[in-house]
Amino acid sequence: MKTAKGKLEELYLDGSARIHCPPEMIPMPGQVLLAHADGSDAPLPVPIFSSLSHPQGGFRSAPPMPASWRPGQLLNLRGPVGHGFILPPAARKIALVAFDDVPARLLGLVSLALKQNAEIVLVGKSEFSDLPEVVEVQPLKALAEVFSWADYAAVDLARENLNQMRERLAGQEQVTAKLEAQVLVRAPMPCGALADCGVCAVTLSHDWKMICKDGPVFGLRELL
Ligand code: FES
Repeated sequence: MKTAKGKLEELYLDGSARIHCPPEMIPMPGQVLLAHADGSDAPLPVPIFSSLSHPQGGFRSAPPMPASWRPGQLLNLRGPVGHGFILPPAARKIALVAFDDVPARLLGLVSLALKQNAEIVLVGKSEFSDLPEVVEVQPLKALAEVFSWADYAAVDLARENLNQMRERLAGQEQVTAKLEAQVLVRAPMPCGALADCGVCAVTLSHDWKMICKDGPVFGLRELL
């Protein structure tokens, strides 16, 4: 894990931002960067996920950014933290599941999936704009059907919604047993793997793990 200076270059209407930083600090899809505003005495870092790379360098973040941050804000960055998504090179039918939020944290996977000529279905609750035309959109109620079609799935959800996902997939054991799937579990990360605070713990079937150290991306079967 590294530290570096970054800068918030631009804020967008959807609450995302363009962050300029050294290339090695750019988080892979699913990884997180921890940021402190330079000059601020806020005790906790802000977790920043990438959404898309940016042609002028750095990356576009997933929303939201803290309301007090403005363009030009210097940032002290630490990361990238944790394991991101790993797209299997052989995957040709890819499901992206924005379980409870906008799909911003999954969009970095679209260009990777297109590079390997995969079909992509995005599953989510809301209407999504700015998606490449090749991405098919399905509602959340189609989740089990899309999972049985896919050969890889990437899911993004908050820790408090894990049980909802388990309920939606109840009875689909045959599908989830053969599906290669990973889940980004979002939770507060106050120490960001520095002090073993335990705030980011997630309970698995017979165990618990730290999202900041063991995640934030986990295998779906670990979580079910
Ligand atoms: S945030 Fe403190 S242990 Fe994960």
